[in-house]
Amino acid sequence: MSPMLRGLAAALTLCCCAPSAALATPAVAPILTTADAVDGQTWAQPRIARVTHVDLDLVTDFDTKTVSGTAALDVRAAPGATEIVLDAWDLTIVSVTDADGGKLSWALGAADGDKGAPLTVQLNSARRIIVTYRSGAAAALQWLPPELTAGKAKPFLYSQGQATLNRSWIPTQDSPGIRQTWTARIVVPDDLTAVMSGEMLTPTGEAAGPGKRAFRFRMQHPTAPYLIALAVGDIAFRPLGERTGVYTEPSMMDRAAAELVDTGKMVEAAEALYGPYRWGRYDVLVLPPAFPYGGMENTNLTFLTPTFITGDRANVGLVAHELAHSWSGNLVTNATWNDIWLNEGFTSYVENRLMEALYGPERAEIEADLGWDQLQRAIASAEDPSVITLHGAGTGVEYIKGEAFLRTLEHAFGRARWDSYLRGYFDRFAFQPQTTAGFLADLRAQLVKGDADLEAKLQLDAWVYQPGIPSGAYHKPSPALLKVDEARAAFLAGGPASAVPGKAWTTQQWKRFLDGLPRKLTAAQLNDLDGAFALSASTNAYIRSAWLELVVANRYAPGLASLERFLGSVGRGLFIRPLYIGLLKDKDWGVPLARTYFDQSKTTYHPSIAAEFERRLKAAEGS
Ligand code: BES
Ligand code: ZN
Repeated sequence: MSPMLRGLAAALTLCCCAPSAALATPAVAPILTTADAVDGQTWAQPRIARVTHVDLDLVTDFDTKTVSGTAALDVRAAPGATEIVLDAWDLTIVSVTDADGGKLSWALGAADGDKGAPLTVQLNSARRIIVTYRSGAAAALQWLPPELTAGKAKPFLYSQGQATLNRSWIPTQDSPGIRQTWTARIVVPDDLTAVMSGEMLTPTGEAAGPGKRAFRFRMQHPTAPYLIALAVGDIAFRPLGERTGVYTEPSMMDRAAAELVDTGKMVEAAEALYGPYRWGRYDVLVLPPAFPYGGMENTNLTFLTPTFITGDRANVGLVAHELAHSWSGNLVTNATWNDIWLNEGFTSYVENRLMEALYGPERAEIEADLGWDQLQRAIASAEDPSVITLHGAGTGVEYIKGEAFLRTLEHAFGRARWDSYLRGYFDRFAFQPQTTAGFLADLRAQLVKGDADLEAKLQLDAWVYQPGIPSGAYHKPSPALLKVDEARAAFLAGGPASAVPGKAWTTQQWKRFLDGLPRKLTAAQLNDLDGAFALSASTNAYIRSAWLELVVANRYAPGLASLERFLGSVGRGLFIRPLYIGLLKDKDWGVPLARTYFDQSKTTYHPSIAAEFERRLKAAEGS
């Protein structure tokens, strides 16, 4: 990066308490000094000293399953600051020096669970520090043996940073409000390829000693550190368009590329709505099925589960979602994880707008209605209603309630005004952290403008800070899904499964049908459904997992082999979490089964998922 660009990046990321004057309106200047902008999940003290840029130089070792090397950090410090605090989780620190190799003293404090440990470095006059380190059993990293890949011949490594996992392989300030530019040089075995969430500088790699290759990357825009991501494996590339392409294992390429044909059009649709795509290329990486999420919006390079591939492009809403994060999340970023609905709720709304732009209103209505349905079920089943609030820790409702909130605002203001507001919002706060209070202040300043009637009608604070759904929420039921509801009602009234027109249904219609069934069914009903539609054998992970939830809820023995295979081959939390939770609700039958399946499968799960399920299991076994 040129010194000038670097200076600009530093200016943009200097201080989380005052957005750059050139970009912000005075009305929003104070928002990031409110207490809720303080990120309790980092050890960093960004008002004293903050990281503005990271240079990684790392070797990946597939034998020891560690990464090691250096992280050189540029630091911006307040006058008189003497130290900087970084986040480190299970890292072995070898040394810390200044740019000239002069030793700096450092100390690792006590680790606090998933927060990791504070790494405090005495800066003296240094404004660039070099940390030499190696990772431990890093929570962000999954090292897959060849059997868990599509090609089954070579190992695979990938990272998952959100929310606070990157500190397990990068010693930096791991907080979404502390944006950093970065570069990386990654050394890998020479039959493997490294890809990262930045500009790829060396598509074919460079020699790096016997049996090794190095790949270099850079990210010139200040980026939240949870978006730094790495994958290493037998990875091929195919362009999808001029600035879009897909990375995946060679044997996955044809299916992946076919499912992703509309990616370029999606980028164009998003730009037409929300302004230029600011990150250069938009590529996607399709991972092995162990990947714990549907997708992860790593800057420039969305990571995707292969389970979205069903051959009919039914689930490209996932791609629209991760692409939408290029505005809501990556450009304007939740200041703390309590503001996650600013990422996920906005993104779910934008996702739906992209689906409408590409595939028409009917398709968008179907997906919006599924979300609404999910929200109603989340409210009905919540043991603790306070989880149905937008502001606060992620519980899942930040997606669907957030989407419902923004859709309600769209209808209140009218699409034209709302679209122009949202586009302006992404520009005003581009490359900045945003808080819940900051968004509300901006919305009031730009659109409500002190109109007391409007304020009373919108119930903004209730939407964001109160549980439940305020009156006046906008929702339009989907006629296509109402037909599914009718078919379900006929089946439940005693009609045969063969009369359900499921053979012609899309994934979304099947989701609606299965999720809307009562949790308790008779063995005869389950047999009838499975017999008519071979649900236990479905290769569509959305349909299969929705069916398996019923298998679990009904102790349906003929479905257990399918359940066991599914839990052993898919790591996507959205699918397998409800299955484990369902098992754990059934103490005598389900808990021991969950233990058996989990012990069989745990080495195939990402460390974050494995740790979560181990906690859930221990709690259920102990109670
Ligand atoms: N950013 C999320 C994934 C995430 C959320 C990782 C919270 C860590 C903590 C991603 O954009 C996402 O929302 N993925 C969804 C798919 C989406 C279509 C709802 C998923 O993984 O299911
Ligand atoms: Zn998301």
